[in-house]
Amino acid sequence: MTIKASRRGNIPPFIVMDVMKAASALESSGREIVHLEVGQPSTGLPSDAVEPVQKLIGEAALGYTIANGIPELRERIADHYKINYGVCVDTESIFITTGSSAGFQLAFLSAFDRGDRVALASPSYPAYRHILTSLGLEPVLLQVSNETRFQPTVALLEELETPVDGLILASPSNPTGTILPKKEFESIIDYCRATGVRIISDEIYHGISYGVDVTTAAGVNAPEIVVNSFSKYFSMTGWRIGWLIVPPDLARSVECLAQNHYISPPTISQWAAVHVFDCLSELEANVTRYKKNREILLRGLPLAGIDKMAPSDGAFYLYADVSKYTDNSITYCQALLDQAGVAITPGVDFDPVNGHHSIRISFAGSTDSIVDAVEKIAAWQSHDEA
Ligand SMILES: Cc1ncc(COP(=O)(O)O)c(C=O)c1O
Repeated sequence: MTIKASRRGNIPPFIVMDVMKAASALESSGREIVHLEVGQPSTGLPSDAVEPVQKLIGEAALGYTIANGIPELRERIADHYKINYGVCVDTESIFITTGSSAGFQLAFLSAFDRGDRVALASPSYPAYRHILTSLGLEPVLLQVSNETRFQPTVALLEELETPVDGLILASPSNPTGTILPKKEFESIIDYCRATGVRIISDEIYHGISYGVDVTTAAGVNAPEIVVNSFSKYFSMTGWRIGWLIVPPDLARSVECLAQNHYISPPTISQWAAVHVFDCLSELEANVTRYKKNREILLRGLPLAGIDKMAPSDGAFYLYADVSKYTDNSITYCQALLDQAGVAITPGVDFDPVNGHHSIRISFAGSTDSIVDAVEKIAAWQSHDEA
């Protein structure tokens, strides 16, 4: 007798993780690989946070915490909103999560029912649509382009024949790095409030932008859910720690979901995150490096023939159109990895419709690795064209 397996796991892979696996396999066989595929800082926990964390490991029991996280961290996050955005956020609305990835599960489970429709830009972070699908929700792709700076617009929402229940916003976006101007951000919020659409605002790349302001959806009693994380600006990717700002009508259900799904977020990571707010100069130095890396790519890639890029206002990505070289971004990226030893991510991970002729390059690594990658890509492209 065949034993049933759920269809919930029948979702596409997160292709960037597959690229990382292929790159690691090449490294194990002795090849040197430049990693421009994964969006993670190459830096670790900022140095001033290391000692207090080491002390805690030696001294504290580090058991479970309450499900929404230690008050000390929620207070630091509330201060962060006051200082950086001039916004008052109630500490009771802040939920510490196991990375923003767990935050998405809590947000989607608390806000939507099976079969609900959630709109999102395409291209966008692949896990949005895959998590939605696995939870029995329907991702509704808004095909965006350079014309809308790769961001959703009110017009695109109005064009939908069947209404949606939710909308994911990501500004700065992954993979494009584009930022929604404040006016457009607010008009999308107004439209969604008027039409009963719940916004989930992924603000994970706040703190990493290049002369362009970002807007938060956080506010007193706001119906939007804000998702954020310590993985990017705060350089704590592997510590698996993030946060949600949850509207009052969802607070108790998020709490009950969090208690049952996770008990509590990782305790040591919560304390490390408290200390990371004291390390801002080191974190700002990281952003300065991303800026330099971005400039090296913006100068070097066009010389290698890659000259059609989304305006990368923030995050640490460049999303480039390589249609003059390929209509299959997977084989293009495989060839670049195999032949030149440079790992980048095919656009189909982010956009199953138009991503066949796009690539995403992460510039979160060291400046030396970016210089090396540009040289290798240029040599590979010219060899390929010859
Ligand atoms: C836009 C976006 N949101 C969320 C995540 C998940 O991050 P984490 O679970 O590490 O907080 C990522 C990771 O790359 C991302 O790019």
